[in-house]
Amino acid sequence: MSTAIEKSAFGKMPDGKPIQLYRLRSDGLEARVITYGGILVSLKVPDRNGNAEDVVLGFETLAEYVEVFNSHANPYFGAIIGRYANRIARGRFKLDGKTYSVPVNNGPNSLHGGPRGFHNVVWQAQEIDGGVELKYLSRDGEEGYPGNLEVSVRYVLENAELRIAYSAGTDQPTVANLTQHSYFNLAGQGCGNILDHELRLAASRFTPVDSTLIPTGELKPVDSTPFDFRNRHRIGERIDSAAEQLRIAGGYDHNWVLNEDPGSLREAAQVFEPHSGRVLTVLTTQPGVQFYSGNFLDGKLKGKQGKIYPHRGGLCLETQHFPDSPNHPQFPSTLLRPGERYQQGTVFRFSTA
Ligand code: BGC
Repeated sequence: MSTAIEKSAFGKMPDGKPIQLYRLRSDGLEARVITYGGILVSLKVPDRNGNAEDVVLGFETLAEYVEVFNSHANPYFGAIIGRYANRIARGRFKLDGKTYSVPVNNGPNSLHGGPRGFHNVVWQAQEIDGGVELKYLSRDGEEGYPGNLEVSVRYVLENAELRIAYSAGTDQPTVANLTQHSYFNLAGQGCGNILDHELRLAASRFTPVDSTLIPTGELKPVDSTPFDFRNRHRIGERIDSAAEQLRIAGGYDHNWVLNEDPGSLREAAQVFEPHSGRVLTVLTTQPGVQFYSGNFLDGKLKGKQGKIYPHRGGLCLETQHFPDSPNHPQFPSTLLRPGERYQQGTVFRFSTA
């Protein structure tokens, strides 16, 4: 079935720049994406009785996104993250012998590309077959990163799947790690926490972290730990156990090392919500997935339809390269050189059970 695409206005940035919203509809699903931050502002998906609910956290207005995305409590709801998703230790890395500094905005570390990362810029949009393509030119030196990086992110809604395709090229050696930061609650956004969701992860190892959530470098087997999601487990089952890694992060906030070789699409994760019957299957070309159980949500943010987002009120499955890869030469490389093409894809596939 073909995808219906509509474009409308979604308010203006503080400097007057207009923001557009693209509404994509296909097979009873509806996705809304805006040109600020490439944010997926809503995603309506049917439950096992055919009732569609919005399953991602977010805000109703542009002003709320801009305000919260420029505050210290930024949850990055639904945004495209770059130039480097996740953390870079102490905001420093070396490339071809030169040290680069990027903004320290999360304890001692750099998180999600810095305060003016890709979540906090205006993208150019154009309609494509089945969806929308967003483009952004990240200039040499922006947020400390070398090289002009031209980035394209395509959102396509078809066959009950939201497909996201990332592509980037540079004119100087740089690092690139892009992801999508949607918080899912498959019972419906604002419907309590995600502890009853059941999760499966196609990963036998994860990257343990230090007290500032930077990987120690070890790829640790999940065997006999609360990080073993090779078979489906309720997220709440072991989240508050005494395991040190869980205490450090206040829950799950770790990168899992996907089993099958990266480069082509394969299943990374599956989430099942028993009350609605909604199932989300995540496929990706990436080597890792950060499963973040919304531990920093604290009930202070008021979202869409006046809903309050409680502690662990949404979960993120951020497909990505491993955190802090530029400082871990043994991790899959995030280096991008002129003439090379960064190309990654992630699929959010919906079904019911
Ligand atoms: C990180 C969390 C962080 C969150 C911000 C996630 O990708 O892993 O530690 O608090 O983003 O929303």
